Amino acid sequence: MDNINELKIPRHIAIILDGNGRWAKKRFLPRAMGHKAGCETLEKTVEDCARLGVEYLTVYGFSTENWKRSEEEVSALMQLFRFYMKKLVGVANENNVKVKMIGDKSRFSQDIIEGIDFLVESTKNNTGMVFIFAVNYGSRDEIRRAVAKIVENKEITANDITEELIASYLDTNGIPDPDLLIRTSGEFRISNYLLWQIAYSEVYITDTLWPDFDKAELLKAIESYNKRERRFGGR
Ligand code: IPE
Ligand code: IPE
Ligand code: MG
Repeated sequence: MDNINELKIPRHIAIILDGNGRWAKKRFLPRAMGHKAGCETLEKTVEDCARLGVEYLTVYGFSTENWKRSEEEVSALMQLFRFYMKKLVGVANENNVKVKMIGDKSRFSQDIIEGIDFLVESTKNNTGMVFIFAVNYGSRDEIRRAVAKIVENKEITANDITEELIASYLDTNGIPDPDLLIRTSGEFRISNYLLWQIAYSEVYITDTLWPDFDKAELLKAIESYNKRERRFGGR
């Protein structure tokens, strides 16, 4: 590994955590146990990123399409949200991390909505890394909601529609685009994540299943990012 002090740390890392189910299957465990292990990995990753000096970390926790899963799995995931959101308050405050949520929380039950609001509210004065948790998030749904809000604003005319205006109506308003997108479990797809925002992100895919992801894996992704030549369409 390169000297870690010489590594350029991406300002914003986005993660598609994937492979919890396969991790559990390999161990003959129920899928929920894979999700539980995945929550532990998430906690550690938030800490690792904050300590490395990452400014923004965005993690895909539950997609607008994940409601299609069995009732048993969805309800296990909701139980884990309830528990880990409370735990995250401590992890975030210990690491000076400010938590934000993106996605449409209105579909969650009232107690989960309150849990989300509490987590955001009780970390809002932290000045370190911003951890953005994408729950009931789908990029097409985010764009749909943004367009609806733009149309509702009677003061906006066609001439006002700039890329900046569109970006300001997305859930990620004010957050710079991700520099590095990591997906675990070897799947080469985006699964409706941050479609607008990852236009020029560098992509890193690892075969490691999310519950096995750790600081060494994170550093491998950052090392790979350091070898990229970003061109943004220029020369
Ligand atoms: C990612 O793991 C967690 C969520 C999508 C909520 P999966 O549950 O998708 O795990 P695999 O892809 O079935 O292994
Ligand atoms: C993407 O993983 C969604 C999250 C990580 C929350 P999925 O496992 O749902 O994606 P697909 O089904 O493999 O595309
Ligand atoms: Mg999956």
